[in-house]
Amino acid sequence: MIPLKRRKVTLSETVEQPKQTCKFPHVCVFILERKMGSSRRAFLTRLGRSKGFLITDTYSLSVTHVVSENNSGDEVQTWLEHQTARDVSSSEHLLDITWFTESMEARQPVPVEDRHRLKVSTKQNVNVNTIQMKSYACQRRTPLKHHNSHLTDALELLAENAGYSENEGRSVAFRRAASVLKALPHRVQTMDELKCLPCLGDHSQRVIKEILEDGTSREVESMRQSEQFQAMKALTGIFGVGVRTADRWFREGLRCPSDLIRTGQQLNREQQAGVQYYDELNKPVTKHEADLIGHIVKEGVGAVLPGAEIQLMGGFRRGKELGHDVDFLITHPEEGKEEELMPKIISWLEERDLLLYQKTTRNSYLEKKDAPGRPPNNMDRFERCFSIFKLQRHAETTGSDGVKPSDQSEASNWRAVRVDLVVSPYSQFAFATLGWTGSKLFERELRRWAGQEKHMSLSSHALYDSVQVSNRNTQHPLLILYNCTFMLFIHEKHLGLI
Ligand code: UTP
Ligand code: MN
Repeated sequence: MIPLKRRKVTLSETVEQPKQTCKFPHVCVFILERKMGSSRRAFLTRLGRSKGFLITDTYSLSVTHVVSENNSGDEVQTWLEHQTARDVSSSEHLLDITWFTESMEARQPVPVEDRHRLKVSTKQNVNVNTIQMKSYACQRRTPLKHHNSHLTDALELLAENAGYSENEGRSVAFRRAASVLKALPHRVQTMDELKCLPCLGDHSQRVIKEILEDGTSREVESMRQSEQFQAMKALTGIFGVGVRTADRWFREGLRCPSDLIRTGQQLNREQQAGVQYYDELNKPVTKHEADLIGHIVKEGVGAVLPGAEIQLMGGFRRGKELGHDVDFLITHPEEGKEEELMPKIISWLEERDLLLYQKTTRNSYLEKKDAPGRPPNNMDRFERCFSIFKLQRHAETTGSDGVKPSDQSEASNWRAVRVDLVVSPYSQFAFATLGWTGSKLFERELRRWAGQEKHMSLSSHALYDSVQVSNRNTQHPLLILYNCTFMLFIHEKHLGLI
């Protein structure tokens, strides 16, 4: 098997083990993270692999030894059944960690004895009322409107905060926990209901418990009000400012955009626009505004290249009513025609004074030697224009909701809106559609699922069979068609459209 390209490894996401390092092919170990925590699990996984054990990251039919710590046999059995949605056969051993540590000492799998085995009671004693939940977010329906926003808002705030300290692993862990709660068909009342749900780590559980008992979490509330959180939110809220820059400014004593102006900070062109239109860009964009911009860009696209197609992407494609920007994907049915599109669209918009800022990055998909593999950080390589759109306020945009324009634009008859334009060749359009629909967690989970469960590598450009295809430049056309249809099917199901 060709190992998947190495990518950034987070605590809860580990790289598939190459087969050649495995000395005991008849033993396939799965270590349960539940009650153990992701870092201890990662440590044990590395230890086992260094001694030649085959340790799989995900539970599947090929697992022979399930190892857990501080769990009862019933708990492990129920957890496994929820992962597979089937009765766990007796073909695998459910073992206590002692079997694993003894095997590590012996540098080979020790025979399974009774004292290693976890006791599983008869089926009647197992709690059958717990909810069945698949462990990858892309396998579940995650509705926009759900029953647990009082819990998910808190978890997502913790995720946001972890992102501010560049702790991606922690941030994703909180987002996964929130996503599980979004998929529940009812409002959580007691901690008991969360037993056996995947992705709920100790920290998330602590916060959930506090909210269930006291109505609020002290940790989350004090973080929300902390100077650091508020400053990081304000500074990263500037278009063109990432976490690193914001953190540096924070340590220099800066807290908000006006501090940057007051202290005469060096800003690049993007950041200057970000500061200039700060209030406007931090006001949510409505679906109505997204549609208005969509009509204008569509007119431009049709005028510069008849037959070109444009599609609204991102949160609005998922049915959201508000967004932080508007994303469009553009293509042309005749492969190659799309190459000339972006500069022409930009000129068309600029001639009409519709852009306050724009920066285009070229398509770099076929430039790199290793193309078309997975780009770093899952960023795609399409030609893309980051822009700030100048949207005229008509009677209808100034608000049937009665909302008045902000101070910044009170005197003007337009508002600034972040707009992303992405151009894709027709042959990659389905993958681009899938990749640009989001959510970010869904995309991440879908790629993780494709890699770990299906041994395929998915990006916004293509889907490869990592096992069979040795040359990444060749992609079987039937595989494209089959998998694309399949992926889009999963996605529509996830969105609740089917
Ligand atoms: P957004 O950041 O616009 O998120 O990315 P969103 O879901 O639309 O949410 P709001 O409402 O604007 O805040 C949209 C999708 O585009 C993909 C991401 O996967 C995301 O799901 N994307 C974004 C990329 O593939 N590459 C990028 O560089 C940026
Ligand atoms: Mn968006």
